[in-house]
Amino acid sequence: MDTGQPDSIDLADRQRWDARYRAGAYAQRHWPSAYLQQLQQDDVIPHSGRALDVACGRGRNSLFLASLGLSVDALDVSAVAIAKAANTAIGQQLRVNWQCSDVLELSHRLPQNTYALVIMLRFVAPQLLPKLLQALTPGGVLVLEEHLQWDGAERISGPSSNRFRVAAGDLSRQLQAVQVGFDVVDQFEGLIPEPADDGTSVRAAVARMCIRRSST
Ligand SMILES: C[S@@+](CC[C@H](N)C(=O)[O-])C[C@H]1O[C@@H](n2cnc3c(N)ncnc32)[C@H](O)[C@@H]1O
Repeated sequence: MDTGQPDSIDLADRQRWDARYRAGAYAQRHWPSAYLQQLQQDDVIPHSGRALDVACGRGRNSLFLASLGLSVDALDVSAVAIAKAANTAIGQQLRVNWQCSDVLELSHRLPQNTYALVIMLRFVAPQLLPKLLQALTPGGVLVLEEHLQWDGAERISGPSSNRFRVAAGDLSRQLQAVQVGFDVVDQFEGLIPEPADDGTSVRAAVARMCIRRSST
């Protein structure tokens, strides 16, 4: 199906991510996603089985999931980010299967019916949703959080270009193409408080969604 979206990252973008991580991007952001923590407290996150972290960056969420006892596959296109994530994992004595690859290219080869949990946080590729749902085992959970395009006057954190933000309703629209049964466990679009890297509090505009694949 032609989604109108790129089916691989271009070299310039890949090099930009490597350069950002080399320069220390996200080095201060050790804490896992607040959304993931909330879902874990609400007992939505599975306690065991395999998990996939799509576009894992420096691995803050992969490491959190590994610390909960999940067996985590984590992939990112930046070799620099993966190397830093792997170093942190060694320091924390956690095991994660780190993989440097372009998920846009890999999406057609993702295993099906495999993961108890798939997360894709702060990486804009809503066209992947059907594949990510198929990668879940029946009853498995998909967690998404993307920066949201925002017209309000408030100052918000995150990317300045809308290229790296989803439009309102984008995540739900992509679910219309899904061929497996699912329930939406949680859905939110709007502003959230977010700790900035310097410790101050800012706000982020996000689209969040948590989906459970049907058991049958
Ligand atoms: C804003 S960071 C988010 C990292 C992580 N999910 C988190 O929440 O901390 C976006 C990540 O997407 C990765 N990325 C961009 N394009 C990608 C692609 N085609 N395949 C895999 N990763 C990609 C970048 O290298 C970067 O680490």
